[in-house]
Parts: sequence; C-alpha cells; structure tokens
Amino acid sequence: MEWRALSDIPIAVSPRRLHVITWGCQMNVYDSARMADVLAPLGYVPTAEPGDADMVILNTCHIRDRASEKVFSALGRLRLLKLAREEAGGRMILAVAGCVAQAEGEQIIARAPYVDIVLGPQTYHRLPEMVARASRAAGAVIDTEFPAEDKFDHLPESVAPQGLTAFLTIQEGCDKFCSFCVVPYTRGAEQSRPQAAVLAEARTLVARGAREITLLGQNVNAWHGAGADGEPSSVAALLRALAEIPDLWRLRYTTSHPLDMAGDLIAAHADLPELMPFLHLPVQSGSDRMLAAMNRRHTAADYLGLVERLRRARPDLALSSDFIIGYPGETRADFAATMALVREARFAQAFSFNYSARPGTPAATAPDQVDEAEKDARLQELQALLRAQQAAFNLGCVGLTVPVLFTGPGRHPGQVAGRSPWLHPVHATGPSRLIGTETPVTIAAAHPNSLSATLPNQERATA
Ligand code: SAH
Ligand code: SF4
Ligand code: F3S
Repeated sequence: MEWRALSDIPIAVSPRRLHVITWGCQMNVYDSARMADVLAPLGYVPTAEPGDADMVILNTCHIRDRASEKVFSALGRLRLLKLAREEAGGRMILAVAGCVAQAEGEQIIARAPYVDIVLGPQTYHRLPEMVARASRAAGAVIDTEFPAEDKFDHLPESVAPQGLTAFLTIQEGCDKFCSFCVVPYTRGAEQSRPQAAVLAEARTLVARGAREITLLGQNVNAWHGAGADGEPSSVAALLRALAEIPDLWRLRYTTSHPLDMAGDLIAAHADLPELMPFLHLPVQSGSDRMLAAMNRRHTAADYLGLVERLRRARPDLALSSDFIIGYPGETRADFAATMALVREARFAQAFSFNYSARPGTPAATAPDQVDEAEKDARLQELQALLRAQQAAFNLGCVGLTVPVLFTGPGRHPGQVAGRSPWLHPVHATGPSRLIGTETPVTIAAAHPNSLSATLPNQERATA
C-alpha cells in the first residue's frame, strides 16, 4: 500500500490520479462527485486525461439502449489505455459504476474481463475497500448490493471546489414502476433522507460558495423524509426550511412525478421567491390509453389541470417535460393526443425519446412494438413542435429585465455567463466582478438554447 494511516485518516504519500466519466441524469453527476470525495482521502486527485489516470470510473446510465452501448464502446477504448499503462510498468484500476453496473454486473465482467471493479449506485461509500481488494488480488470485485446501511451516513465531507450552483440528492430510488423504466430495478426502493441531513449538507454547500441548489431525486417531489419533528414531512416543507438559509438565493428540484405534485408544493411556487419558476414535470404521453399502459396513474386532463394550477400559482412558471414516442401499441391517434397536449401545455423546453425496450421491464415483452421508422417519423414531428415552442418561449424573454446568477466567464473575452430563472444559459458583456452575483439584466436576444443580455449602465464598467 502506498498510504499509511495517521490516527484514523489515511494520508496519501503520493497523489494518484482519478478520471471519472459520467453519463445519465443529474443524480449520476452528484454521485460522481461523491465518489471523488470518497477517494480523496486515499490520495486520488482528479485528472482530465484518462491516459494519465491510476483509476478510471465510468458512471453509467441504463435508461435507454444507446446509453448502455456507449459504456461498452468506452470500455474498449479504455482497455487500450490500460494496456499501455501496464506496459509502461504502471497500473490503471478500471471501475464501472452506476445503473448499467447495477443491472448487468456479471455481464460486464464476462464481456470486459479487464474491468477491476463493478459497483452499484448504493455502494460507492465502500469504494476504498474495493480499491484495496482490487489492488491486492487478481479478478474483479463486484459490489451491487442494496446494503442495509445508508451510504449518505458514510460519505466524507467534500473538499472539492464548489461552484455557485450545486446538486443535492434528497431522495433515491423509485416505487412507481412505470412499465418502460429500469430505475426501480437499478436504484432500488424509494428512500428519503431526513430534513436535518439535507439542511446540514445545504449549509455546507452554501458555506463553500453555492448560491443555487437543485434538490435531486428520481421522484423528488415524493420526498417524505423525517421533518424537524421527526415525522414524515413534504418537499414543500423542506423547501421552506431551505429558503431560510442565509445566502442561499435560489432553489430548484428535479425530477417530479405528476402524481406527487401536492397542493402545498404548488403553494410553495406562489409563496417562495427563492423557488425558481421552472419545473421539469415529465408527462411521457398525451394519450390516456398510453398513460394507463405505462402505469403512470394519471390522465392527460390531470396533467393539464396541474399545469393550470401551477401557472395560477406562479404565472411566469416555465415548464419542461419528457416524452416517450412509440411505446408498444401507440397508434397515430395516440400520438396525435400527445401533440394536442403539447400544444395546450406549451413547454419552454423538453426531452423526447423513442421508446427503447429495456430488459426486465414489463413493456419490453409487449407484443405490439412500434416499427422503428414510424417511431422516428413521430419523434421528428414532436421535436419540431417542441423546438418551435422553445423558440417562442425564448423570444418572449427578449426585452424582459430578469435576475441572472453569474457563474463564470463567458465564451468570449470580456463576457460573463450565468443562468436565467428559467435555467437558460445567459451571456452578457460585462466585468468579471459580476461572477458570484445575482444581477438584473435586460434580455437582448434569444437563441435556440440560450439568451444574450445587456447589463444596466452602472454594471457595465470593467472592474
Ligand atoms: N423519474 C422521472 C424519469 C426518470 S428517467 C419521471 O418519472 O418522470 C428520465 C426519462 O427517460 C423519462 O422521463 C422517460 O421519458 C425516459 N425513459 C425512461 N425509460 C425509457 C425507455 N425505456 N425508453 C425511452 N425513454 C425512456
Ligand atoms: Fe422510472 Fe416511472 Fe420511476 Fe420515473 S417514476 S423513475 S419513469 S419508474
Ligand atoms: Fe440513467 Fe440511472 Fe439516472 S438509468 S437516468 S443514471 S437513475
């Protein structure tokens, strides 16, 4: 071993380099940062170059076919880097983490026997132990349990630099079992962290510089962790408690399920200025027949009713959604119902995908799979409408004066970049002293995925 223990804390003798590749949702982004935290006491420091790394972690996503195929092509490339390193007398530990690891642990080792560690999303607090085992012995270490202990209780405090925006996982897993989805199998049963743990982590993030926190969960609005009194609470109450933290200016949460969009949460959108007016609320389809087959447990009218209540609570609320096209049995009429819902709801942004059969999910074996070419045609039609809605929303921002949280330099010299309340990237010509401030700007131009802004006179001078 290259490190020795001083009291209980292992101190690195020589730094080792860690390269993490992340696919999938924001929860994977959060998990990748936590894996780096867990490995920091062993002396691992991040490197941008996989070829230089003593350890490479692939944090994977299983949600659609293409997502998992990417993992195997990346593994093929990394194998060559690993071999080159071994030839030079070094070592590269190759670890596969995340949802593909959870779903296909044994197959990964069979298909890529040069992988050293396979770990699921619930076991990364045990990484130091796995690294020690992988360093000692030949053969892969696999840990894809759903352990009884809570990984959040076993994570060290982060020492990595913290930007102005941060993610905070408050809820994991999912009990909804939508018939197309792997998440309940890869992430396990729904679990909510207690409010006290969430507040403590939020305070630490703010002390380290975060001014905007996005609460994460596969079903974030189903959060029901222990509140201040120890009783199960609600995400609305949690948001109210978070809004009290000084210097925490902005709050967001994602991803929400329409079924859990409770009245107190809608009210929080009206009452809490810290809660940003942007909500990702996936609907998947506008056809009640498809929604029932998908086990979503709500109708198109339920969804549109929610949208109306949310907009009444917060008139400037921008909506985002996910859509699945070509779910087994989807007819042209079902697809037309999705288009009609989109026209009525008006989305500021959206993600849409062709249905991808996932092994082990009920829909994968449904008899009436839709032809791929037909899926593509419908997807293109939907995406054209969604793009037009996004363009209209962005154009509607032109002329408005809105607060932007400036988070860093812009792409061009003399520019600063930040985020609008609606999550757009915003660029403006202005001094770097604006970075770290929330400054009102006037939106001057709209682009497909971003906005340009001009600063008020007193902010224009260079620092
Ligand atoms: N918990 C969230 C979604 C998480 S998965 C929710 O319930 O809305 C993110 C998105 O991936 C889903 O909203 C869905 O649109 C898409 N997705 C999930 N499984 C899929 C599949 N088998 N094929 C295509 N898209 C899928
Ligand atoms: Fe998947 Fe449905 Fe759970 Fe979302 S709610 S993670 S789509 S099973
Ligand atoms: Fe993908 Fe797992 Fe997230 S399957 S979308 S990384 S929960």
